[in-house]
Amino acid sequence: MRTAVHAGNRTLSNAKAAKQDEFYTQYDDIQKEIEAYLEYDPDTFRGKVVYCNCDDPYESNFFKYFAANFNRLGLKRLITTSYDGSPIAGQGVLFPEYDADNGNRPRPKALAVVIDRVQDEDGDGAVSIADVEVFLKTNNAARIPLKGNAAYPGGDFRSPECIEFLKQADIVVTNPPFSLFREYVAQLVEHGKKFLIIGNKNAITYKEIFPLIKENKIWLGVTPMGTDLLFDVPPQVAEAMLQSGKEGSNYKIVNGKVMGRSTAVWFTNLDHGRRHQELQLMTMADNLRYNKKLRGTMAYQRYDNYDAIEVPFTEAIPSDYDGAMGVPITFLDKYNPEQFEILNANDFRTNPNTPIKPHGLIKDKDSAINGKPTYVRILIRHRRKSAQEGAR
Ligand SMILES: C[S@@+](CC[C@H](N)C(=O)[O-])C[C@H]1O[C@@H](n2cnc3c(N)ncnc32)[C@H](O)[C@@H]1O
Repeated sequence: MRTAVHAGNRTLSNAKAAKQDEFYTQYDDIQKEIEAYLEYDPDTFRGKVVYCNCDDPYESNFFKYFAANFNRLGLKRLITTSYDGSPIAGQGVLFPEYDADNGNRPRPKALAVVIDRVQDEDGDGAVSIADVEVFLKTNNAARIPLKGNAAYPGGDFRSPECIEFLKQADIVVTNPPFSLFREYVAQLVEHGKKFLIIGNKNAITYKEIFPLIKENKIWLGVTPMGTDLLFDVPPQVAEAMLQSGKEGSNYKIVNGKVMGRSTAVWFTNLDHGRRHQELQLMTMADNLRYNKKLRGTMAYQRYDNYDAIEVPFTEAIPSDYDGAMGVPITFLDKYNPEQFEILNANDFRTNPNTPIKPHGLIKDKDSAINGKPTYVRILIRHRRKSAQEGAR
């Protein structure tokens, strides 16, 4: 549990995004997600340099997970950089610069921790996270202070020092600040990196992100979208949440501890088994006859401004419809790029006055049926159609 409070500059009553910048990922959630990639390919991380670039090594469970599993995963190197602007201050302080002035703690200094090996440092016959602590205490060279530059504070993922680390990295894994998500992803794409990162579900329809999903350059991770991911939060964020009084939507109290809640999902370009599983579907007629959620419906509805049918639930995608289908964004949990393609909505506009959109069908007149908006939709089509067209 976090006890120390640091009076950071950030006004915590600010936007939700700013609060979510200080959501700290739980070890179990990281472990569950990563283990699924290992199940698909045990060598996903073998011989790789992993970089956690929004992670205070003494606070982050990303650091802890990769350090603790360094040998099992076969990592070549683990690099972790902490951000000078971070207001967090937790327990498990290992170094004096993190705990100066008798607990009147200064803003944490940014630093990089670079680990090339994890072995039995404390001589207890086993290799564990305790060995990482001993290694770091006795190897000053593994801890590199980060200065930043005029534009960015030390440890900012955009600072030149962090970009140098990024260039060394094969795979970037973290939960970055939500408020900088667009910029963060753009940097990963620009540097051609593999990554596994947490972001808000809403980012799916960002104009900077949706095209990447459509082109299969980014996809969702394994943890289903509906999973209630809860995050550790610093005390001042917990306080602000309690004051907002929105338990259930913003936070949850678990064993007396306030945990931050967001509609978080994993975004990645690492392959995993779930995206190769075929979704089992019924025909249109069978759906209308047997699908409990569609019972009473005579036909699939059509959008006012798009030549596509409305499919309100992923399991109601008909197996025998070859045109464009509007599906909820939770479809992406089941998206198998060999089975479906994600379409550019603009190609299916029936009304030339409908504005061109860089994302899916948003909940407004984009996705309206008889003037009534449905929820956010993305347009998809069975792959077989385009394959046949391509072959023609
Ligand atoms: C959502 S929190 C997640 C922390 C950690 N990755 C985890 O999952 O537990 C985002 C972290 O990024 C830090 N941060 C904010 N702006 C940053 C920036 N420009 N560059 C690097 N880190 C930043 C925040 O201080 C915070 O520690």
